[in-house]
Amino acid sequence: MTRYLITSALPYINGIKHLGNLVGSMLPADVYARYLRQRGEEVLYICATDEHGTPAELAAAAAGLPVAEYCRQQHELQAKIYEGFELSFDHFGRSSSPENRELTQHFGRTLTAADLIEERVIKQVYSPADGRFLPDRYVVGTCPYCGYDAARGDQCENCTRLLDPVQLIDPRSAVSGSRDLEVRDSKHLYFRQSRLAPRIREWIESRAGWPTLTTSIALKWLNEGLEDRGITRDLEWGVPVEREGYEGKVYYVWFDAPIEYIGATKEWADQAPGRDWRSWWEDSHYTQFMAKDNVPFHSIMFPAMIMGTGESWKLADFIKGFNWLTYYGGKFSTSRGYGIFMDAALEILPPDYWRYFLIANAPESDDSSFSWELFATQVNKDLADTLGNFVNRVLTFSRKRFGDTVPEGNPAGEPERKLAEELTKILADYEAALEGKHFRRAAQHLKAAWSAGNSYLELKAPWMEIKENPEAAALTLRTGMNLIHLFGLISEPLIPATARTMQSLWDLEESDPGYGARWAEPERIAQLDWIPAGRGFRVPEVLFRKLTDDDVATWRERFGAPENA
Ligand code: 2FM
Ligand code: ZN
Repeated sequence: MTRYLITSALPYINGIKHLGNLVGSMLPADVYARYLRQRGEEVLYICATDEHGTPAELAAAAAGLPVAEYCRQQHELQAKIYEGFELSFDHFGRSSSPENRELTQHFGRTLTAADLIEERVIKQVYSPADGRFLPDRYVVGTCPYCGYDAARGDQCENCTRLLDPVQLIDPRSAVSGSRDLEVRDSKHLYFRQSRLAPRIREWIESRAGWPTLTTSIALKWLNEGLEDRGITRDLEWGVPVEREGYEGKVYYVWFDAPIEYIGATKEWADQAPGRDWRSWWEDSHYTQFMAKDNVPFHSIMFPAMIMGTGESWKLADFIKGFNWLTYYGGKFSTSRGYGIFMDAALEILPPDYWRYFLIANAPESDDSSFSWELFATQVNKDLADTLGNFVNRVLTFSRKRFGDTVPEGNPAGEPERKLAEELTKILADYEAALEGKHFRRAAQHLKAAWSAGNSYLELKAPWMEIKENPEAAALTLRTGMNLIHLFGLISEPLIPATARTMQSLWDLEESDPGYGARWAEPERIAQLDWIPAGRGFRVPEVLFRKLTDDDVATWRERFGAPENA
């Protein structure tokens, strides 16, 4: 049996993530993991906070906390929010763990032994006022490419060019603001990934069926010529480099972060006996989820590190990259607090509203834009009307006419057979979309299944049938209840909380087909024989509330939105 290893890009430790981060990595990974588990597959879904590097140190300093304590608090905070969104990690680790330290140092040693790491003496910005070297974001200044005056030493936020701190014009220390900076020599380790370029190219070119987004980014980097990368920094916070003369230096955050995928798997195993972490990295089907800015690291640097060790670490079998989700066409920005952050989203509405909308609008083939207007329209139409109303109508009407148990009525006839046929087709498409990790398409097929239920109900019109032929109405309502249970099974990957509700409405007996039912083959689950007549049922609270114009106005005000949009 295939075992599925799934990872989503590790969120940086500093700050609560926004909805763009969620839809670009963790949420689709979760939907995929939940789908596979529903299908009875063995899944290990791993994520962690990415805790090293200058952003963490700077944020800790700004918060007035020692960096280790800052990271501990932020990790807890993020973990709680992800739980709130029902992200079903098997383990949510920390890249600052002892497991990752050990593995990172192991990679460092192994790549050194393979002659893929070399020492170079390079120019580094040094600040006498701060008494330290200033790597990456510790220096800010004017971008030499676009003239943006608050560019950070590692990258210009305005034109996205990667930078070296010594390139900045009018540089100043991000710690003290001091402009009295010097350029001094400092020795660092470089990963000679250029030597692995032919192997990486061969690997990428042999990946049939990968998203173009992924392969085109990887090939662009390869075509431009792979440069070796500095993998150490003059910092205290990080994985120490065990090498003489490297006291006070640590591995660069982008070296230890991907290794944490493995590290977190070991953390998972270290939490309970009998968990074989190594085998997941030898023998599994491995899918990685991430936004497009992370693709180069995952399609080139990390695979090169793995190939370079000559060890049997699993390479990704599939890399799913995402474009950007924008907020009214503008960039979500953590530093400027622009857009919707995950904690605020949960304050406003339960997770399923967000999960459904984000997956239905996942930025797959292009960027996609969030607006409150679109959000309200889609929630109201798809969730409140098509799904919620269906559930409510079937159950309240049945209770009113037939009491608290599932009515028997006529045996299934032609309309029920047609419905099953239609559902079989929709479910096959839905499955294919999930297998292929086409998330927007999956949401459309799921909605099509809900709509098929509505069309059936409209066609049969039990509120008319009841007048002439109560037995016919009873069949329609029993079929409607079976549809609700089916929706409970198949909606779980996208809207897990609502799906649980839909599955738990019935007093089933162990011998009933619906008891503990799993997602099975399309022909089987379309059969609608899950809930037999005579079983008790409950009518749930309204599943999704309608979002009003007032809601939209309030949220536009609270989160800021362009006036004429
Ligand atoms: O871009 C980011 O948010 C990084 N923290 C992603 C790291 S993914 C992995 F390689 F660790
Ligand atoms: Zn720039």
